[in-house]
Amino acid sequence: MIRKPVFAANWKMNHTSRDAKTFMRTFLMQYARRPDRTVVFFPPALTLAAVSDAIKERQDILLGVQNIHWELKGAFTGEQSAEMSREAGAAFVLVGHSERRHVFGEKDEETQKKCAAANRAGMTPVLCVGEKLEERERGETDAVVLRQLRAGTASLDPATIGSMIIAYEPVWAIGTGKTAQPEDASAVHAVIRRELAALAGERTKDTPILYGGSANAGNAAALINAANVGGLLVGGASLEPEAWATIVRT
Ligand code: PGA
Repeated sequence: MIRKPVFAANWKMNHTSRDAKTFMRTFLMQYARRPDRTVVFFPPALTLAAVSDAIKERQDILLGVQNIHWELKGAFTGEQSAEMSREAGAAFVLVGHSERRHVFGEKDEETQKKCAAANRAGMTPVLCVGEKLEERERGETDAVVLRQLRAGTASLDPATIGSMIIAYEPVWAIGTGKTAQPEDASAVHAVIRRELAALAGERTKDTPILYGGSANAGNAAALINAANVGGLLVGGASLEPEAWATIVRT
């Protein structure tokens, strides 16, 4: 079975609950249910309830959180667990997003523990991988992406690896207006696809590998049609309901 393309909106630290309600009112009018694609919103955790309420009639739209802690519970001020995220309605969690790695210093070992925690709580991890500009220029793209992929999946069994989502987000393309060329994205996606097969076999054949990094309404079609690209993870262009509806309808 070919999985449906996934269109994921990463709102980062944007939109209050009030903004989210206004956004969803416009977006839902512009995006009628389409059975051939999956739409996921990653709002800030505090806004999740407002988005969840707005989509209660729309089972076709799913929710995720942008981060979790790997422990079940305890003295971790400021953190949220996988279980409480799941209970609040999040089926997915972003793990190892570039901003977590490069702004907050998140390490490969943490992505490993977060993917495991997500799985324990019945959530699907969306493991984000991607190279920095200097790593690309040194020809290290594949090595960086493979290291991050192996680390993130290291404590998962093959069946779990087969049900997760990977997002390739070159760091130099995120929020910069510089998008990877579809063929460059395709080449890295193929490397990821081969490694997934080595880690977990045939069951990863249709694992969605999303592209992220300055995707927008103008380049979405070319990116989504590139070989091995199974969807888009969109930041900036998902903040405005008309633009996001255009992308999701691609
Ligand atoms: P961007 O962000 O679309 O604004 O480049 C993508 C992401 O960080 O997931």
